[in-house]
Amino acid sequence: MTRPSGGDTVAGLLAEIDDLGRDPVRGGWSRPVLSDAELGLREWFVAHATKRGLDVETDRNGVIWAWHAPDGSYQDAVVTGSHLDSVPGGGAYDGPLGVASALVAFDQLAAAGVAGRPRAIAVFPEEEGSRFGVACLGSRLLTGAIAPDRALALTDPDGRTFAGVLAASGAAPEQIGPDPWALGRMGAFVELHVEQGRGLIDLGRPVAVGSSILGHGRWRVTIDGAGNHAGTTVMEDRHDPMVAAGALVVAVQAIARAVPGARATVGRLVPTPGGTNVIASRIDLWLDVRHRDDATTLGLVEEVRMAADRAAAEQGCRATVREESFSATVDFDAALRDELCGVLPDAPVLATGAGHDAGVLKEHVPTAMLFVRNPTGVSHAPDEVVEDADAEEGADALAATLQHLITHREPAI
Ligand code: GLV
Ligand code: MN
Ligand code: MN
Repeated sequence: MTRPSGGDTVAGLLAEIDDLGRDPVRGGWSRPVLSDAELGLREWFVAHATKRGLDVETDRNGVIWAWHAPDGSYQDAVVTGSHLDSVPGGGAYDGPLGVASALVAFDQLAAAGVAGRPRAIAVFPEEEGSRFGVACLGSRLLTGAIAPDRALALTDPDGRTFAGVLAASGAAPEQIGPDPWALGRMGAFVELHVEQGRGLIDLGRPVAVGSSILGHGRWRVTIDGAGNHAGTTVMEDRHDPMVAAGALVVAVQAIARAVPGARATVGRLVPTPGGTNVIASRIDLWLDVRHRDDATTLGLVEEVRMAADRAAAEQGCRATVREESFSATVDFDAALRDELCGVLPDAPVLATGAGHDAGVLKEHVPTAMLFVRNPTGVSHAPDEVVEDADAEEGADALAATLQHLITHREPAI
């Protein structure tokens, strides 16, 4: 499909939002859901969708939908999209690349006069779970994978509840929850995303078709000890949860290294109260564990639980481990994946270790992903990169995929 001359490019769109959420302290971009930065990104998307004549709505879970449905039918729609929130100090492409590429792909479809099934761009909130702890919160709420009451009680690092932050943003917290009507309009979902590893670098290709998402979950480990004075408490009298946490971090690495294909990370550790001259009374640390085999993932967490008990007991402390979210390994819809491979015969098929809303939606909608080469292979860090030419190739691949699905694919139901 040809690109409309003088139209937006993916790089041009991303340049417009480059300043939003830049983090002068951590480096990179921090765009937590419902922060000023993320709200600014949502406004940017809505302005672009509106300019294109798309019908924009925000559903009761905060998912933005931008529709092209000229005959008024919203059923069996071909949907693409991604997210605009980021991890703290993340890269510029994780999420926004998929949204900007969707806009450019829709321009190509419009310029070519592609008609058939209705189409939409969806922007999902809190994909990273970096503010309220549960990844893919928007798609989990939409699909019923998380209970509304539990979601509303989630708190951010400042102790604000999701319910309170939603209400302050003008949304209606009492209305969140499963939305079979909104979900039921989707006939297929294709998410384009920056690759978060080295697969495409090693293969020398710009775009891949996704095959699977590694099963993954998050657990919060709380170690309770005894807060006290750093100068007056002799070493023998301490119940220092920070020491137990340090031992646990080392144990987590050893536990994961012993199992081929396992990944385990402690990326966040919060001491209470958190003073240089204060022995902490409590440590919360967040554990991320991933493995292709879900039983192995849960077995690894059990080992970490035992290691936490041991590490805590050695310091006269007490540990508790609580699951915050779990996503089983996802193999994308094979028929849809094969269709994408037919449209993009040069694209390799790659698995990913990163989580995505596409993974949550997969239980309900035929779902596929496209990955665009990232020359550093780094993600969730400022060094994440996509070359301009690859970004445009990604949008072309997405446009060709959507065109095929809009015009050729039999309805899923
Ligand atoms: C999200 O990108 C994740 O994999 O945690
Ligand atoms: Mn992402
Ligand atoms: Mn991410």
